[in-house]
Amino acid sequence: MQELSARAAGQGAGRGPIVQAVRAAKLLTVSSSKGGACKTTTARNLAVIAAHAGIRVATVDLDAQQTLTIWHKRRPGAAPAIDHRAIPTRDCNDRIAALVASGGFDLVIVDTPPGVEGYPAEMRMLVRKSHFCLLTTQQQSADLDSVIGWSEIVRREGARFAFLLSRTFRNRRNYSEAKQRLIEAGPLCPFDIRDLASVDRTDKLGVGNIEIRGDLCGEDFKGVWRYVSRELGLGDGE
Ligand SMILES: Nc1ncnc2c1ncn2[C@@H]1O[C@H](COP(=O)(O)OP(=O)(O)O)[C@@H](O)[C@H]1O
Ligand SMILES: [Mg+2]
Repeated sequence: MQELSARAAGQGAGRGPIVQAVRAAKLLTVSSSKGGACKTTTARNLAVIAAHAGIRVATVDLDAQQTLTIWHKRRPGAAPAIDHRAIPTRDCNDRIAALVASGGFDLVIVDTPPGVEGYPAEMRMLVRKSHFCLLTTQQQSADLDSVIGWSEIVRREGARFAFLLSRTFRNRRNYSEAKQRLIEAGPLCPFDIRDLASVDRTDKLGVGNIEIRGDLCGEDFKGVWRYVSRELGLGDGE
């Protein structure tokens, strides 16, 4: 979506103001109504892949626990840049709208706190304003109950979304049962993220899984990125 900035870039001699075209960023929100649903892990991995693809990406941490912010502080200086800010949820809507409209970014990824019901009005507005929402969940049935309940609210807001299964154990019976339940409840990202110990290492190192050579979760997240970038209209994710 191309928007004309109210800021004139300068005055051309006798030619009137030069108005600079500012392209608004795409807004991706990662949410679920539970803690431990892999929201932060997803937000940071997609941001890393986008940054490697040359996309100007900003991350926003709405969680008072600041897990994403702590990870970002550990990020090695030589790694592709991700702009980051921590924002209290109660102030988030205006500040995220300003970030999206600033023209400084192609993509803004928002990581949300657990218990989205703590700020229902702000969260509903956030998903409404998002170009796409990823609703993350593990494969256990209590997690599915919770995320499916949240998806009904997201859907009522008219937001575009898909479920993302994370920390999966593909050889367990409840894996295919979980996929079946989610497909019945709404769109399901065709890639899921396996449970692997390397995720904890990337947390400590401030990197994404694709920044560890040969990492299998990195491959999983690349698949998720291909799907999400297409949904966002950011190309085919290659
Ligand atoms: N694919 C995965 N494999 C193994 N551990 C994971 C994976 N994804 C997340 N974790 C771990 O699960 C925990 C919760 O993940 P996190 O992304 O912080 O969830 P949330 O932000 O939803 O609370 C963290 O300790 C994280 O390292
Ligand atoms: Mg988190």
